[in-house]
Amino acid sequence: MSLDSVMRSEHTFLVPTYDRHKILLKEGNGVYLEDYRGHRYLDFVSGIGVNALGYRHPVIHRKLKAQAGRLIHTSNLFFHEYQAELARRLAKISGLDRAFFCNSGTEAWEGALKFARAFARAQSQGRSKAKWRILALDNSFHGRTFGALATTGQAKYRDPFTPLVPGVTFIKFNDITDLNRQFDRSVCAICLETIQGEGGVWPVSPEFLRYACLLTKRTGALLILDEIQCGLGRTGRYFAYQHYRVRPDIVTVAKPLAAGLPLGAILTTNRVAKALHPGMHGSTFGGGPLACAVAIEFLRTLDGLMEHACEVGHYFRKQLDELQTKHSCIREVRGLGLMLGMELESAERAKTAVSQMLERGVLINRTNENTLRFLPPYIIRRRHVDQVVCTLDAVLSRLCTKASIGKETRE
Ligand SMILES: Cc1ncc(COP(=O)(O)O)c(C=O)c1O
Repeated sequence: MSLDSVMRSEHTFLVPTYDRHKILLKEGNGVYLEDYRGHRYLDFVSGIGVNALGYRHPVIHRKLKAQAGRLIHTSNLFFHEYQAELARRLAKISGLDRAFFCNSGTEAWEGALKFARAFARAQSQGRSKAKWRILALDNSFHGRTFGALATTGQAKYRDPFTPLVPGVTFIKFNDITDLNRQFDRSVCAICLETIQGEGGVWPVSPEFLRYACLLTKRTGALLILDEIQCGLGRTGRYFAYQHYRVRPDIVTVAKPLAAGLPLGAILTTNRVAKALHPGMHGSTFGGGPLACAVAIEFLRTLDGLMEHACEVGHYFRKQLDELQTKHSCIREVRGLGLMLGMELESAERAKTAVSQMLERGVLINRTNENTLRFLPPYIIRRRHVDQVVCTLDAVLSRLCTKASIGKETRE
């Protein structure tokens, strides 16, 4: 198998939506990936936050094999033993009551928006015009389907596909005055990522989130939090909103939920769920026995990993903060737990940093042009952090120096 032949074939047969790094991956083990040339990579991307338990985790591997041998898919026409158990566990850790299962982040988000509209209609009971407006945040990302795009506050994702779903207004990020200006009684939901991921790793401020929560509680609108990237242990708590002490009405999760199998979920309250009845929403694949059985094992394993993820996240953050004191091209370090971003002075430098890290055997990625993003598996150890920080230090030493020499010469 050669990278060249795969590239040629993809060039001919795939719709050209991806700009991939030139690595042909073969297998993974723990926190490492290996390519067909035998090169090993320390993985601090984890499939964009999916492989939270790394690769070939024994618990996941065992369950996958056992369940695949028994029952992979049933459709939602019948019961199987795992959906209710998985929903029970998600309710327990989220403080919400119920779950609906689907296959991806964007699908969870679509469903959440539908739930908000359905809830608003049920509340109005034909007495008045149902609330219908949705407030979303600038710079957000919620997925690639139409409802998700309509609430995604970044032109580059939206513009090629307009007109999108109507009824959405964007609020300036963390701007309470703007939220107040745009909010009225026609709003059925305020929806946001607790930590913006694709937008460059920006945690929402406690003041903004608590105020959004207050507005929704006061008026009967819903607070919908997208925890597809930041949820399920990524920040050192089960959910990022648990750092803020708010209770949302709907939460969406996906990425790491089934340890690499496609599975998403909408978590919500009994009050909202009452607005839904059979036939209003559904999915052929969502919540199948294989994905749910594996997700239960993921959650079981997560219980024993949270403290570790929190501790190693603090350690990593400290190291990145120290790098910032050393390199002038670092603008800011942001994030929580094991969802960390390092904003550099320019997109060009961030791009070069990612490719030089890759050449040195470390996978990270770049988000919102100039931010290096770190989403490692939760099983990383301090020595893995040290390796990444040491490599980054070397890469930035060359990049920042080059940049400042360039600047001086121009001056
Ligand atoms: C916050 C957030 N919401 C939604 C999505 C969409 O998820 P998916 O790609 O599984 O549809 C993503 C994906 O990166 C995300 O980060």
